[in-house]
Amino acid sequence: EQIEKGGYEHFMLKEIFEQPKSVHDTMRGRLLVDEGIIKMAGIWDHIEKFKNANRIIIIACGTSWHAGLIGEYLIEEYARIPVEVEYASEFRYRNPIITDKDVVIAISQSGETADTMAALKLAKEKGAFIYGICNVVDSSIARITDAGSYTHAGPEIGVASTKAFTAQLTILTLIAFKLGKHNGNLGNAEFMSLISELEAIPKKIEEVLNTTHELTQNIAKDFINATNFLYLGRGYNYPAALEGALKLKEISYIHAEGYPAAEMKHGPIALIDENMPIVIIAPKKGHYDKIVSNVQEIKARKGKVIAVVNKGDEQVSAMADYVIEIPVTSECFSPIVASVPLQLLAYYIAVYRGANVDQPRNLAKSVTVE
Ligand code: G6P
Repeated sequence: EQIEKGGYEHFMLKEIFEQPKSVHDTMRGRLLVDEGIIKMAGIWDHIEKFKNANRIIIIACGTSWHAGLIGEYLIEEYARIPVEVEYASEFRYRNPIITDKDVVIAISQSGETADTMAALKLAKEKGAFIYGICNVVDSSIARITDAGSYTHAGPEIGVASTKAFTAQLTILTLIAFKLGKHNGNLGNAEFMSLISELEAIPKKIEEVLNTTHELTQNIAKDFINATNFLYLGRGYNYPAALEGALKLKEISYIHAEGYPAAEMKHGPIALIDENMPIVIIAPKKGHYDKIVSNVQEIKARKGKVIAVVNKGDEQVSAMADYVIEIPVTSECFSPIVASVPLQLLAYYIAVYRGANVDQPRNLAKSVTVE
């Protein structure tokens, strides 16, 4: 096992550090920047299904569901196809309206999640075209779908998903750009600039790992006795906030909630005092001014702010108690880059609390029963 961990203390840490490679592997053979194309046979062979779709329904559970929410932002922004994202467990029991004009995308790291599988079967029975985004090759979900794309992130052993999540985001980004280019909603110049930027994302992840590894350890030390955490973000980073909160609760057993930053005033603000740490994802290209006012409101109530900001940020950094810098990216890529320090933060808080990070209590890597 020590050898499998490759010198890291836990699989989770190893998998966090594998992300420059796993994201690169997800794009390998698909993102051909010199030729100006995205090659995805699963999409291309069924392009008419996507082109004629009334809508895309994404179904998933857990972390994969968070990836799905970001997929909604991506596909709606770049391909202008309406997207709905559903928990598989809710979808399967509410007699959903599905027709043969719907495309259903299931996202599952393991490809074995019982609820996701059952929801897919239902969608298939009702005539939808079903597409899989799985990590485990030849898994049950991969086998029953009409087509799909593997994430190729490599085996994920830590129960808390890390590299599978960023690989799922990478696939969803490729799909959104490919569909948008094909249906004319994404012009060639923007497409070219986005795919060149995507190609460089593994380098940015590497940079973030280098610049935030020690920093997140130091921040973590100050929060080992916290009992609650709030995670806030807007737009693409709202689901990133949900995922940051999920990581923390899964492995450290500290209660954490993710919220869209603007919803803070509809409830969570009542919880803020000097004992409430708030992780806020505030890149420059994501409704920055609005986030600035959220931070002001938090500081007025003495909340402890841990801000994830772009390099060179001034306004939020001046108010925050802790600052984690990430490189500037287009907004659509920011959840990939911002998730990395949040994974590290959750990891180190859990380690300092003495928790079993790779095998958290009561959780399973893959939930194959209801
Ligand atoms: C379990 C795992 C999570 C995972 C979820 C969905 O709860 O602990 O890490 O996100 O299942 O799993 P899937 O394999 O379908 O992505």
